[in-house]
Amino acid sequence: MKKKRKIKRKFKIVLVILITILIIFSINKNKENHNTNIEKVNDYKYILVNKKNKLRSDFKPDNLIEVKECSLGNFYLEEETANAYEKMCLDSINEGLNISITSAYRSYNEQKELYNTYLKLYGESYVDKYVAVAGHSEHQTGLAIDLESLECDIFRNSKEYLWIKENAHNYGFIIRYQKGKEKITGYGSEEWHIRYVGNKAAKYIYENNITYEEYYDLFIK
Ligand code: DAL
Ligand code: ZN
Repeated sequence: MKKKRKIKRKFKIVLVILITILIIFSINKNKENHNTNIEKVNDYKYILVNKKNKLRSDFKPDNLIEVKECSLGNFYLEEETANAYEKMCLDSINEGLNISITSAYRSYNEQKELYNTYLKLYGESYVDKYVAVAGHSEHQTGLAIDLESLECDIFRNSKEYLWIKENAHNYGFIIRYQKGKEKITGYGSEEWHIRYVGNKAAKYIYENNITYEEYYDLFIK
């Protein structure tokens, strides 16, 4: 009789352990889903990726296309972003400007390599200010572009930048990391990094001089 009770107790302990393991496993799985907000937005262009919100390492947009206009390399963007960029850059050519791309879609592994290269070259405080940890870069979404001027080496001094600053919102782009907003975005100012969010959001962000984090809190979350 005593033996039977002992077996019963042991069985109960094993059961409790198994249930605990299952609960921990499902909490961790949920955590992974919470970290990426792809599932939370019903329109892909509104996805928020920053120091707090990451993408899974295997995430890759399924509608990447190669940019044909105003691009000297093999750069890929998600389709709507690529079309908006091409429209914007063709209009800028008509204004006598010369815009090109230095970076567009980057995979998780490419971002990881980039991060490690800059970390070795310039150290921790530099990467913290300018380079996202893999999984935390908007470039992995295919919605972000780094621009250059083919007329002037320093983008912020170029007439291409002045035009982008005043016109990009008409094509659905925002300058994502602005001077004075470092505490909110988590990054130093990057005049060259534009992010596609669509015309409605871009116009609102431009007119109200807010960050995408603030827009997201107001209208998307
Ligand atoms: N330079 C931006 C923050 C990135 O690495 O995605
Ligand atoms: Zn960038």
